[in-house]
Amino acid sequence: MSFLDSLFAKKEKSVLGVDIGSSSLKVVQLRKEHGQAVLETYGELALAPYSGGEAGQATSLSAEQITESLKDLLREAKVTTTSCGVSIPFSRSLLTLVSLPYRSDPKEQKTIIELEARKYIPVAASEVQLDWFIVPTEEPKSPQKESPSIAGQGGKKVDVLLVAVHNDELSLLQSVVTGSGLSASFYEIEIFSTIRAVIENSVKPIMVLDIGASSTKTYVIEHGVVALSHAISTGSQDITRAISISGNVSIAQAEVLKKKEGLGDGGALGSPELVFSRIFSEARRVLIQYETMHKKSITSIILTGGGGVTKDLSAYAKSIFSIDVRVADPFAKTEAPAFMRSVLEGIGPEFSVAVGLAMRKLDEI
Ligand SMILES: Nc1ncnc2c1ncn2[C@@H]1O[C@H](COP(=O)(O)OP(=O)(O)OP(=O)(O)O)[C@@H](O)[C@H]1O
Ligand SMILES: [Mg+2]
Repeated sequence: MSFLDSLFAKKEKSVLGVDIGSSSLKVVQLRKEHGQAVLETYGELALAPYSGGEAGQATSLSAEQITESLKDLLREAKVTTTSCGVSIPFSRSLLTLVSLPYRSDPKEQKTIIELEARKYIPVAASEVQLDWFIVPTEEPKSPQKESPSIAGQGGKKVDVLLVAVHNDELSLLQSVVTGSGLSASFYEIEIFSTIRAVIENSVKPIMVLDIGASSTKTYVIEHGVVALSHAISTGSQDITRAISISGNVSIAQAEVLKKKEGLGDGGALGSPELVFSRIFSEARRVLIQYETMHKKSITSIILTGGGGVTKDLSAYAKSIFSIDVRVADPFAKTEAPAFMRSVLEGIGPEFSVAVGLAMRKLDEI
């Protein structure tokens, strides 16, 4: 880059995170200034109305329909950049932590991992994209880390996180990106984006609960690495449905009630608590499984995803898990006008994935 290029490169420094969720699209545009991520714009668009459903409910659209809605969102949110990173749904990927023989030579290690991986991935190697990370054993690594690193020197085994994504999912995302006039340099499984956006470099194990519309993704992070992950097939759309049934109101009305009342006071809206208790008891099993396997305690829980915004949910979660519970605030890692802070705090959890994607994209610059 010449001196002049670098002078004018500032203009090009805006990047975009694109999160294609089951119920809505989210975008976040950031710019880097003095080494700090500055929030330029963000936006969200419900997908279900594109197939005749109600906002807040999950839907399954064709690549063309997603492309159309993403174009609408880019216009509405006044996005000015095409450089982006895109999320891959957890439901379309496979994460497994395996213990494999350790080799000091990185090339040999790579060969072993890629050979062994086949045993753990239940589909033909040609049908998936495979990636892997070696789990650090000694030094805590930052959650932002993307490239695999060698650890466990001296030991005979090494823990490896295998990651597989089906080719079909990647081609769907690629066609959406191209069709919307964007240019993506990476596709990332959503939980890695969330980790980057909501977790400080923490040595102690933390559990994240991403309460989306269709499912709740639950995972344990230790040393910045996913030690355990599990999808619970209940999400915030099930709260809306429960309210709609128990209160005998339409889905649209139930959605409004859910956002207004949150967990409610046990009256007509007693049903949200029932659904959350189902989600939490399954999450508790994951927590206990981790604690038993690793003989360590999980010290805190982070609630994220649109369902994480639910009023009074963190107090309820605290009463169930009896540990520290926090609601994610991904925009806290970005610079934004002071008057917007409370709005951003309120909607933050829905944007965790998009913020995390944009942060990784910023690091590429
Ligand atoms: N203030 C709120 N209170 C309660 N629920 C909310 C609130 N805001 C959004 N939601 C719910 O959160 C859900 C959307 O969350 P999110 O955007 O994280 O899901 P998604 O990413 O589309 O889905 P998934 O992660 O399952 O693919 C919707 O069901 C919506 O009704
Ligand atoms: Mg989501």
